[in-house]
Amino acid sequence: MTISEPLRDPLSLFNVEGKVAIITGASGAFGRACALTLASLGAKLVLASGSKDELDAVAAEVAEVARHGSTAITLVRRPDTLEDAEAIRDATLAEFGRIDQLVIASGYNKAGFIQEQPLDEWQTVMDANVRAPWLMAKAVGAWWIDNEVRGKMLLMSSVRGRHGNYSGYTGYCTSKGATDSLTRVLATEWAKYGITVNAIAPTVFRSKLTAWMWSDDEVGQATRKRSLSRIPLGRLGEPEDLMGMALYLLSPASDFCTGQIMYVDGGYTAG
Ligand SMILES: NC(=O)c1ccc[n+]([C@@H]2O[C@H](COP(=O)([O-])OP(=O)(O)OC[C@H]3O[C@@H](n4cnc5c(N)ncnc54)[C@H](OP(=O)(O)O)[C@@H]3O)[C@@H](O)[C@H]2O)c1
Repeated sequence: MTISEPLRDPLSLFNVEGKVAIITGASGAFGRACALTLASLGAKLVLASGSKDELDAVAAEVAEVARHGSTAITLVRRPDTLEDAEAIRDATLAEFGRIDQLVIASGYNKAGFIQEQPLDEWQTVMDANVRAPWLMAKAVGAWWIDNEVRGKMLLMSSVRGRHGNYSGYTGYCTSKGATDSLTRVLATEWAKYGITVNAIAPTVFRSKLTAWMWSDDEVGQATRKRSLSRIPLGRLGEPEDLMGMALYLLSPASDFCTGQIMYVDGGYTAG
């Protein structure tokens, strides 16, 4: 029996050298970790976010770890409108001539109980977590289909897409449920083009969004204690905990995996 190439060299399944990735929210914890991971493995990166200083700091770190021909550019732009999303796509094409991976690492939460929360706050959460990924998918997906590129899209969901919460999360939970649906419907619609679309659904991991949960004030301590009591592996996450799954979903290793919400949550959803 012939031994296939992936069985002779299983690590080749995770090869992303020379691939071109757009990362939105590259200034954030997950975006930064993805950027560093892909840069050290030789991918070419477009790092997009709305915060120039934070983006520059990530770009400097990326330059430090870049290997195997990896290069990166930064774009100070969020995909707030279709024009923004297309500008991010077009700048990528102008620089690198193609797009292989789309990582939606941006996201936002503004907690507030529905009885009190103004509609515009809820809308801001939905815009960041649903509208922006939809716009990026529209802009990049059209290019993938027209150019017969078997792209890989990675979205960020959350255990909150599946579970409710006690803390005024009607915006966040609703937006992450929508992320799960967007992942599944894009995956089914684009499967015939060989494009894969998957999402990572973490529990709490350390980032700007969750910094308050590491604080020792009363609310931080109480929330941390409650979260930890539900996580079988007994700790909160770090961005690095998500990188194995991110690399799997962005590399040929996941070519037969699409439309999946991958829980990287210390066992939270198992209990
Ligand atoms: N941390 C967790 O515990 C956790 C758990 C489950 C899921 N997630 C999800 O993981 C993803 C990454 O989050 P993170 O934890 O890495 O958070 P983070 O460190 O706060 O990074 C998120 C990035 O998103 C961008 N952003 C913020 N508000 C935005 C808005 N209104 N519109 C568009 N972009 C905005 C920011 O970049 P700029 O301000 O520079 O544009 C920010 O750097 C998010 O989708 C989040 O919901 C996080």
